[in-house]
Amino acid sequence: PSALRVALLGCGVVGTQVARLLIEQADDLASRVGARLDLVGIAVRDITAPRDAIIDPALLTEDARALVERADIVIEVIGGIEPARTLLLHAIASGASVVTANKALLAEDGPTLYRAADEAGVDVYYEAAVAGAIPIVRPIRESLTGDRIQRVLGIVNGTTNYVLDQMTTHGLAFDEAVAQAQELGYAEADPTADVEGFDAAAKAAILASLAFHTRVTISDVQREGITKITADDVAWAKQTGHVIKLLAICEATEAGVSARVHPALVPLDHPLAGVRGAFNAVFIEAEAAGELMFYGRGAGGAPTASAVLGDVVSVARHRVLGGKGPAESHYAGLPIAAPATS
Ligand code: NDP
Ligand code: HSE
Repeated sequence: PSALRVALLGCGVVGTQVARLLIEQADDLASRVGARLDLVGIAVRDITAPRDAIIDPALLTEDARALVERADIVIEVIGGIEPARTLLLHAIASGASVVTANKALLAEDGPTLYRAADEAGVDVYYEAAVAGAIPIVRPIRESLTGDRIQRVLGIVNGTTNYVLDQMTTHGLAFDEAVAQAQELGYAEADPTADVEGFDAAAKAAILASLAFHTRVTISDVQREGITKITADDVAWAKQTGHVIKLLAICEATEAGVSARVHPALVPLDHPLAGVRGAFNAVFIEAEAAGELMFYGRGAGGAPTASAVLGDVVSVARHRVLGGKGPAESHYAGLPIAAPATS
């Protein structure tokens, strides 16, 4: 084809920046893909809401279902389980390839999407769902797939890292720091998902599934957020040469695959202690590769849009040149360790 039709579902913090890149980098993207990427519509909840000037009002629609039916590639940046799941399944059934940043949906019911995509012979890509701009999904599911991963350890939620950092370095109150994270576009639509650890737990489920070739859902992840962390805790950590970080820890244990998220005291000389603001970092320990570290911006519109566009180029190339990304359906079926009750 000389052009591929792209539908964008959602035009908030991330969607606006995705649209910007599709529009401003149209010529570069066309040369990388071998076909133009035509943005044919943008589905939103309210077409009368104010938008960035880059958004052509004529592209907006409140009928997402009709929009996906006329697309080759559907980008979902609405968030939440429904209507995102139904829309993506409809897109796949209509023969479209799908790119999503929706970790909540993938951690709850990803295999339903992967199975549907396998049956339809289309791609589901989701690099932006874990750690924003950091390439981490593809390195685990492709580059490291010949190795044996033993442990994945990381700071995977930008909002909580920003909040803890602001409390530590600027003495900000918890609520004030959360409000700033919302203002900066780091937080989820409901920031409870960030501060109670649900967002990090969703990412831990995705990382553990990929790293250990099994199906870990969010309900398998032991979870504790940062809402109980006080200014006194932060000050005490500092006095004792530590910093408090919300960590996601996924490992293969004798009891099975285990994933958990909780605040931890990190010594100041540890590389994770230096991860500031809304940055994220992921450490991987693998049998042959040894230790690897991935670092970068974990939240925000433009960094997330970078990861989304990388996926869009990949799935678009598959449509132009033939082929398909790695299948998600071949799991070893390793046991999952029951989350410990805390
Ligand atoms: P926003 O809340 O800023 O944007 C959500 C968008 O979805 C809005 O444009 C909204 O429309 C639209 N929308 C909501 N409900 C519907 C519906 N029923 N039908 C059609 N459109 C709808 O969210 P973000 O951009 O921050 O996040 C989007 C996704 O990206 C989420 O899955 C999030 O987890 C993920 N993500 C976010 C990151 C970030 O840093 N913000 C980073 C990585 C991933 P309207 O504008 O009319 O309200
Ligand atoms: N709310 C998420 C965070 C967005 O703060 O990390 C990126 O996934």
